[in-house]
Amino acid sequence: MLTWDNYDDEQAQHEATATSQVLPENAVDAGQPQPVSSRSSAAREVPNTSIQQPIEVTVEKQAFDVVESEDIVLDIPTMRVVSKTTVVERNIDPGETKAPVTQLDTSPTSAADDHQRVTVDQKRMINCRADLNQLVPFKYDWAWQKYLDGCANHWMPQEINMTADIALWKSDNGLTQDERTVVKRSLGFFSTADSLVANNLVLALYRLITNPECRQYLLRQAFEEAIHTHAYQYCIESLGMDEGEIFNMYHEVPVVANKASWALKYTREISDPTFNTGTLETDKALLKNLIAYYCVLEGIFFYCGFTQILSMGRLNKMTGTSEQFQYILRDESMHVNFGIDVINQIKLENPLIWDEEMQDLARKMILEGTELEIDYAKDTMPRGILGMNANMMAEYLQFIANRRLAQIGLLEQFPGVKNPFPWMSEIMDLKKEKNFFETRVTEYQTGGALNWD
Ligand SMILES: [Fe+2]
Ligand SMILES: [Fe+2]
Repeated sequence: MLTWDNYDDEQAQHEATATSQVLPENAVDAGQPQPVSSRSSAAREVPNTSIQQPIEVTVEKQAFDVVESEDIVLDIPTMRVVSKTTVVERNIDPGETKAPVTQLDTSPTSAADDHQRVTVDQKRMINCRADLNQLVPFKYDWAWQKYLDGCANHWMPQEINMTADIALWKSDNGLTQDERTVVKRSLGFFSTADSLVANNLVLALYRLITNPECRQYLLRQAFEEAIHTHAYQYCIESLGMDEGEIFNMYHEVPVVANKASWALKYTREISDPTFNTGTLETDKALLKNLIAYYCVLEGIFFYCGFTQILSMGRLNKMTGTSEQFQYILRDESMHVNFGIDVINQIKLENPLIWDEEMQDLARKMILEGTELEIDYAKDTMPRGILGMNANMMAEYLQFIANRRLAQIGLLEQFPGVKNPFPWMSEIMDLKKEKNFFETRVTEYQTGGALNWD
């Protein structure tokens, strides 16, 4: 963060006489390079904001300056990056110490100057110009309900007893080599995949979803992704695995790397700080990101690994790890449902986006994702294991893909496929697994909220 204390004096004076602005503490992410365009030779390297902060300036001669500059700024209510022209007029006496000098600011970024009560009909999922700091009145009750449900499902990885897993993992003949591979690959994929999801949420998606109740859920989801990464780390550490090997699988193991890089290109497309929605092309880029992450990464890429680990738990192996995965799967199925609701709402509000080209692209993305996950299944299960094999998993993934396609209004592409693992649906609903909490730590403070029913 740039502060006055570490700000170079010479540069400070130069910039102060040019625009009379300093970067406030709550300016946009200082860790991100911010592009600046300017017609003034005294263009700042940092973004302007409407929050005014006085500075002291000493000048040597009589001056009446009119300075016009164009800055890339962050629009606070919508958190969108916009271009703004600022005109500063200053009448300065010789040798006078002027304080404060403030900018003339006519932008609608000041809460006090541009106060307006938000009405429901102003609210939109994307490209909304209404004040996003006003959570209510709700337009999307489902988003708020999911936020409440997510909070009610709160859990932490340390609550789960890993003792039996540690003993099994360390015993020489506790697991077959294939079973060990499945555990390591799952932890390898998921330990970084949840970071990809969290980073996409926070660094790319969040500012482009212009609805406060959905942002509230996104914040909850982002925390849940942190808990999931924590859970994988907790398993890796408990089992005494080689952390370097596990956390680098998304670079070093092709079937893991292919899934990660497939998703990352959709983050890259919209994470540039100057990217904004508002045109057909950019609105489609955002929709692609949502489909990539909610329908494919969380909606398909997670399913082979989840099924393998949960299957292990059903056979009374790696029960602690399996329980961690059950909690995560419950969270993930809500993430997917939220994302699908957002996608469908955007389609509803912006029907032009959902043209034939976009539908073809969405279908293609889901089919590509299914293929990558089938490749992962084949690679992790070269032989039958845990009562399943790669062919059964391929059918299951096609079953899941059909569901994702239907959920966003597209035709199923794998007619007649059945779900070979109906117990997965039961676990996702989490109503029939009555023994699920046997190992829970009893003193957990919000245990009353953890009733599955
Ligand atoms: Fe997650
Ligand atoms: Fe997730």
